Amino acid sequence: MNTTGSTLTHLQCSKCDIEYSKDSIHGLSPCCSLPLFPKYDIDKAKTVFKQNDLIDRPPNMWRYKEMMPIHYQDNITTLGEGYTPLEKAGPLGKKLGFNNLYLKNESINPTGSFKDRGMSAAISKAKEFGLKKISIPTAGNAGGSTAAYTSKAGQEAFIFMPSDTPKPFQIECAQYGAHVNMIDGFISDCGKIVGKRKEKEGWFDISTLKEPYRVEGKKTMGYELAEQLNWELPDVIVYPTGGGTGIIGMWKAFNEMESLGWINSNRPKMISIQSDGCAPIIRAFETGKKTAEYFNDPKTRALGLRVPVAVGDFLILESIRKSSGFAMSVSDEELMEGVKWIGKHEGIFSAPEGGATVAALPKLLDLGVIHNKDRIICFITGTGLKYIDLY
Ligand SMILES: Cc1ncc(COP(=O)(O)O)c(C=O)c1O
Repeated sequence: MNTTGSTLTHLQCSKCDIEYSKDSIHGLSPCCSLPLFPKYDIDKAKTVFKQNDLIDRPPNMWRYKEMMPIHYQDNITTLGEGYTPLEKAGPLGKKLGFNNLYLKNESINPTGSFKDRGMSAAISKAKEFGLKKISIPTAGNAGGSTAAYTSKAGQEAFIFMPSDTPKPFQIECAQYGAHVNMIDGFISDCGKIVGKRKEKEGWFDISTLKEPYRVEGKKTMGYELAEQLNWELPDVIVYPTGGGTGIIGMWKAFNEMESLGWINSNRPKMISIQSDGCAPIIRAFETGKKTAEYFNDPKTRALGLRVPVAVGDFLILESIRKSSGFAMSVSDEELMEGVKWIGKHEGIFSAPEGGATVAALPKLLDLGVIHNKDRIICFITGTGLKYIDLY
């Protein structure tokens, strides 16, 4: 079998740094019950993987394969995810008073969201381990993505989503052949059911950050941003935050790229946006806490932000603070207005989560967190098409 050239060496607890073998199947770290991060042989990567190698590689996220966790080419399960457009948002920037506003358009991924990056990585690794049954709690997008990639990998998917999840998400999962379970509760309740049943059923649980590889797919957004901006990171990244893998993954990518000598130590301000109706990270940020508390009665139309508790909360808060970033929430009315602005001025039908990033800009400007001339990247994390029932 052809090897990928991956320089993966081991897994490491994100809290206490205890190391674990890369050759055994892991969920959370046995030491702290917290996320495990894949680690790479940076010295080797420096010699076998150069920025110039990227010039003639296919435009998908596997172009960074030496810094990805899959060893054998045949296990890579891809639908063409990644290398999404980073477009200057001239008209929208003008409306809001910014000279250098960019949108990273994740809505054009194979199933319409950035979740495809994480799933391509996690499902490929599950294939490498010979796992056949995959389970996941989801707000919607991760479920559709899991269903698509498991189908491609010849695995079975067991998907749990809140009963009020819009129909398009449910239909999509079923059409990919997944087992879809509608649960009376939030994503956290879906997660509890997966946790309870997984051992007996023989499911591999790929809940956000509860297995080590989804974050590796997400981190490719960080590699791509750097590559698309000629290895100079922007001043500001605005990201809608639920479970937090987007921010955590990009932060990991920046640290890896600095070790490789590809970028310097400057970091963008990492700005996390949530909805007023579910803002556990914002509360923790504002009160100076290192972890977040459960957010009771979460309510928002930005379904991916309806995450009342995140296992990686301390990692999200750490990257925001280390980058001199910020965290704030917007109302549902504001984020839906953001969706309209993006549609009207930039020709992209964004998911409500992406609308939240743009809706936050005027407030961030007023607060002096960002400035008119900053190079700002707002992440349009998914397409609005699957949320159509909410209109
Ligand atoms: C479109 C969209 N944006 C943002 C998020 C939040 O992403 P994360 O869980 O990585 O914080 C989600 C999660 O479901 C989503 O579907």
